[in-house]
Amino acid sequence: MNMKSITTIVLSFLLTTFGIAQSAVFDIRKYGAPSGDITTAFGDVWKAACNSTGASKVWIPSGSYKMGAIVVKGPCNGPIEVQVDGTIIAPANPAALHDAYEWIKFEYVDFFTLSGKGVFDGQGAIAWNQNDCGKNKNCDMASMNFGFNFLKHATVRDITSKDSKNFHVNVLGCTNFTFDHFTVTAPATSLNTDGIHIGRSTDVKILNTNIGTGDDCVSLGDGCKQITVQNVNCGPGHGISVGSLGKYPKEEPVEQLLVKNCTLTNTDNGVRIKTWPSTPGTNPITDMHFEDITMVDVLNPVIIDQEYCPWNQCSKQSPSKIKISKVTFKNIKGTSKTKDGVILICSKSVPCEGVELNNVALTFNGTEVDAKCVNVKPIVTGKAPKCVATAAA
Ligand SMILES: *[C@@H]1O[C@H](CO)[C@@H](O)[C@H](O)[C@H]1NC(C)=O
Ligand SMILES: *[C@@H]1O[C@H](CO)[C@@H](O)[C@H](O)[C@H]1NC(C)=O
Ligand SMILES: *[C@@H]1O[C@H](CO)[C@@H](O)[C@H](O)[C@H]1NC(C)=O
Ligand SMILES: *[C@@H]1O[C@H](CO)[C@@H](O)[C@H](O)[C@H]1NC(C)=O
Repeated sequence: MNMKSITTIVLSFLLTTFGIAQSAVFDIRKYGAPSGDITTAFGDVWKAACNSTGASKVWIPSGSYKMGAIVVKGPCNGPIEVQVDGTIIAPANPAALHDAYEWIKFEYVDFFTLSGKGVFDGQGAIAWNQNDCGKNKNCDMASMNFGFNFLKHATVRDITSKDSKNFHVNVLGCTNFTFDHFTVTAPATSLNTDGIHIGRSTDVKILNTNIGTGDDCVSLGDGCKQITVQNVNCGPGHGISVGSLGKYPKEEPVEQLLVKNCTLTNTDNGVRIKTWPSTPGTNPITDMHFEDITMVDVLNPVIIDQEYCPWNQCSKQSPSKIKISKVTFKNIKGTSKTKDGVILICSKSVPCEGVELNNVALTFNGTEVDAKCVNVKPIVTGKAPKCVATAAA
């Protein structure tokens, strides 16, 4: 018996003995990979695993693989796990993904797990250079790394998303979805590379995760409920954001967010809620709780901005119609890069209600920060900066 077959026997023994004894394992290498490209093989191995009865596992061993745009769908005949231990590389040329909204889509699966020490490398540099969305409203959107659409009872564990061409992860229409020990990495200068964007989903948890990127760390779109972001490190990037909301008439409310024990390092914002002025959206934002947060040299550590209007894309003629209520900032400490470390700019037509500052201890250049408050009377408990008078109030 040669070394290779001994290794194979030991490996299959290990695979069947530990934890995954009940899963049938589908090794991608058996499905072909001409010139290292697994686009077709991935689709084939998924179909086989998804169609098998009982729990199944697709396995992509360590190594380097190329892959084009792909969509894999359920329903499957049992729980399914995709364990990636290798590096999967997207084409660098954005056009090679043929306008796919996301490079890899997992859709309509119940009991789905993506795991392993693998890396999904979006090779975004060319796309970032071509990005003119700051100037051009109808700009071409490059593909995001991951689309997780309409999944129930899903987990993403350990995996790394690297250098996406656009957002790293888009979660849409999911229920009971946990990210644990997930990593997002891209340069601070990479445009639009949000870490995890969640929309129209319920019960999503982001735990024990590190996100360093060029845009929002975590962002919540409309229709998010019961979202937990805990033990997460963000930076560089734009911080944790609810919104922007209000742009479209048919948005759903955003409720029950808990952000706890997170550290933001060198980000533009810390924790932020933003809505557009002069737009049709009216759905409320309520029950947003930020606690035990450490800020390290953050430009705007605590910010509610109901006049969010980047690149002067809108007019501030009429105020936002979105009501923001029950927002607590508790045990927020660290350093701000601006004197106005707490900014609460609420809407004139629907002022914020129930905004609480409880032990907010932020310093700018060694002195306590100010709070700038417009159309809001925060409830202060413990230590917190006083609202300074502002002209607009
Ligand atoms: C799914 O499994 C059934 C029965 O095991 C088989 O007849 C069918 O060909 C499989 N379909 C695919 C797409 O593999
Ligand atoms: C959530 O999904 C996990 C699997 O990822 C499952 O074990 C758990 O029972 C689900 N929880 C609920 C409340 O359905
Ligand atoms: C807070 O999060 C860090 C990871 O950033 C973790 O190491 C630590 O154990 C967490 N603390 C608590 C009390 O959970
Ligand atoms: C920071 O504080 C020092 C003295 O404490 C002062 O000389 C300096 O001008 C301050 N810098 C800014 C940007 O306020």
